[in-house]
Amino acid sequence: MYSAPRGTHDILPEEWPYWRHVISCAHETAALFGFEQIDTPIFETTSLYIRGVGEGTDIVDKEMYSFQDKGGEEITLRPEFTAGVMRAYLEHGMKVRPQPVKLYSIGPIFRFERPQAGRYRQHHQFNVEVIGDQDPAVDAEVISLAWHFFERLRFRGLTLHLNSTGCPRCRPAYLEELVAYYRQHTDVICDDCKRRLARNPLRVLDCKNEQCQPVIAGAPRIMDHLCQECADHFAQLRVYLDALDLPYELNHRLVRGLDYYTKTVFEIYAQGIGAQNAVCGGGRYDGLIEQLGGPPTPGIGFGSGIERQILTMKEQGIEPPPLPKPEIFVGHVGDKPRIAAFELATLLRKEGLATLFSFGQRSLKAQLRAANRAGALYAVIVGEDELAAGVLTVRDLTAQTQETVAREEIVSWLRDRLAASRPEGESRR
Ligand code: HAM
Repeated sequence: MYSAPRGTHDILPEEWPYWRHVISCAHETAALFGFEQIDTPIFETTSLYIRGVGEGTDIVDKEMYSFQDKGGEEITLRPEFTAGVMRAYLEHGMKVRPQPVKLYSIGPIFRFERPQAGRYRQHHQFNVEVIGDQDPAVDAEVISLAWHFFERLRFRGLTLHLNSTGCPRCRPAYLEELVAYYRQHTDVICDDCKRRLARNPLRVLDCKNEQCQPVIAGAPRIMDHLCQECADHFAQLRVYLDALDLPYELNHRLVRGLDYYTKTVFEIYAQGIGAQNAVCGGGRYDGLIEQLGGPPTPGIGFGSGIERQILTMKEQGIEPPPLPKPEIFVGHVGDKPRIAAFELATLLRKEGLATLFSFGQRSLKAQLRAANRAGALYAVIVGEDELAAGVLTVRDLTAQTQETVAREEIVSWLRDRLAASRPEGESRR
């Protein structure tokens, strides 16, 4: 028997209330902040990610699903949204639109990772990007959007970690100092860090290995090496966050796993799914568009894993609203009534009333049991007598009472009853 590939999941019907809830919260939050939706292809030319995300990152070196298609093109399943969205910004000349351009996306992401709780080979992200403005207020708006989204989901125990990774002006000198410091400790650091030192030194700060922790604790901090522009930008961002009363922790070790970041980087954690599992990660990438062949254009954004949002909901006991189910069940007794019942079910659906039709030729009792199991509120029964008299028997499955309703009045009868059974302001169950 086949099973879903390792690290991937079917989203079963019982999971969909969670998915629908987080996705609708994402749309609502994006709208509230004035973001527009963009969908880019699930695959792009491989070199886009090599240039965008960067050689020497785990994503590019180890995690991409890359292949040659039948036309000989090098293709990669998107391992993140940002590079593709920047490609679209450039390709469609979005520079001429009022800046900044504020875009969001929702969809699947593919990374060949070691699967574990909260880490999958196919996951889904709610991703947000603001392109074309370097005002620190933009950084604050993006962070506050993420925060608002999680508050809307009613998450508890949120922590925001914040850092600045500098820019091409100040970072090289810092990296030199960091490498020089690490050179004095090569006897104790792990093999991964030795490799990182050569390929992507900033990442040594992110190492989880026990033996490296004391070395990290004593390492020089980028915050002490920022140029004036980066320091001012960070200070202003903090003024905005303080004004919003948005609590944050300065985390000197927060460096993120993608190469394009400059200045602000941040991650958000939620109580319940473990400190390693960020529900959101992002930052500023002022050099990325240039890196991809465009004019110098600043940008900032974040990605938030939908599976991790749902794990958080479950860990914190947050129930999603139930999805609407058909409230009407159409049953029948006899051959001619079955056809009439089928017509009736179709008519009710055309009138916007979600309806289940009773398949097969079961006893009335079995049909009513099925109606109850499906959670319907009313069973409409067509039998020989009803057909002859132009009426329908309607059973209220909650009150367990029965009435006869004229065929031509059934739509308005059901509408009235369903409207009366709903709490005020609720359009559907
Ligand atoms: P990232 O930190 O690699 O950033 O991913 C963003 C979020 O996606 C993570 O915080 C986590 O919630 C979720 N996530 C990542 N990998 C997995 C996985 N294997 N399984 C489940 N969830 C996962 C980015 O992708 C950047 N493109 C974000 C960004 C947008 N930066 C600027 N703009």
